[in-house]
Amino acid sequence: MSDINNKDVYILAIESSCDETAAAVVKNGREVLSNVISSQIDLHTLYGGVVPEIASRKHIEKINQVIEEALKEANCSLDNIDAIGVTYGPGLVGALLVGVAEAKAMAFAANKPLVGVHHIEGHISANYIENKELEPPYICLVVSGGHTHLVVVNDYGDYQVIGRTRDDAAGEAFDKVARAIELGYPGGPKIDKLAKEGNPEAIKFPRARVEGAPFDFSFSGLKSAVLNHINMCQMKGLDINKADIAASFQASVVDALLDRAMLACKEYNMNKLAIAGGVASNSAIRTAFEAKCKQENIEFYHPSPIFCTDNAAMIGVAAYYEYINGTRHGWDLNAVPNLKLGERI
Ligand code: KG4
Ligand code: ZN
Repeated sequence: MSDINNKDVYILAIESSCDETAAAVVKNGREVLSNVISSQIDLHTLYGGVVPEIASRKHIEKINQVIEEALKEANCSLDNIDAIGVTYGPGLVGALLVGVAEAKAMAFAANKPLVGVHHIEGHISANYIENKELEPPYICLVVSGGHTHLVVVNDYGDYQVIGRTRDDAAGEAFDKVARAIELGYPGGPKIDKLAKEGNPEAIKFPRARVEGAPFDFSFSGLKSAVLNHINMCQMKGLDINKADIAASFQASVVDALLDRAMLACKEYNMNKLAIAGGVASNSAIRTAFEAKCKQENIEFYHPSPIFCTDNAAMIGVAAYYEYINGTRHGWDLNAVPNLKLGERI
């Protein structure tokens, strides 16, 4: 697909909502010409989590270089770019502001349209990169460090959030449990790896349900159960088997996610299910979703790990669909740290 004049559409996309400074060039919404990511993870690891002030400062240092690299890798100059897409929320306000200010300055100077993108819309859109046949409608489970959303994707840019977490996001639960068993930050990939050596049935952690809200999630009880288990072991002088904790915790998260996602497919009569966000790169989640979807005759879609965690290619894809639907932002575009999915400011 291209635009209404059948001309190829090139989007330069910028992402800086958390701890990755990223830029990408995307052609016609599905082809990634470049995807440059400068991660600050090593820096934040020293503090056990993302420090907002440090994140903003690092974005400022890196952003020009990352954009230049993205254009170079795509063999493009600004002249070839049809529009500039940028994440304007949700996320850390100072971090978002760096990307938004940069995108506005570039769009103004080069006289290009500016398209603000919702970060979660970006995560969902990452599925279009490698699954060329995927088109709405479908169900998407978005599981990241800051969000756990169950979404009906009715059309491009048309989202209905049917479930969300009441407390911790799935990724946050991974990160907190990892800290409790001293694996360090970010915890998700470390738990994923260690869980392979453990027994997922060793410890029976809870599978929480939210009364009257069948699509909602709650992970804070699970996190507390893990902490209680560790305390109990310490008090009784028992060995703390970290691999078993990791595997049993992960099994509980997988069950909760799979249960709600399958219920959503059934209730909304959908035979396509996608997952997105950093946690969607988890190997146990993928294996369990693949097996269950096969059994239920549901097409299962997921991005490669590099497109699951924060990147600008996904923002370029989302910006493309927003652009061809007519979304344009003005020079008053601001960072909106608590932007709701589907809300247009
Ligand atoms: O989407 P993302 O990069 O940033 C947000 O928008 O929040 O997600 C980051 C989250 C972190 O909590 C990290 O621990 C988690 O994704 N994560 C994983 C895995 N890889 C990253 N969680 C579980 N298993 C993984 N393999
Ligand atoms: Zn994200």
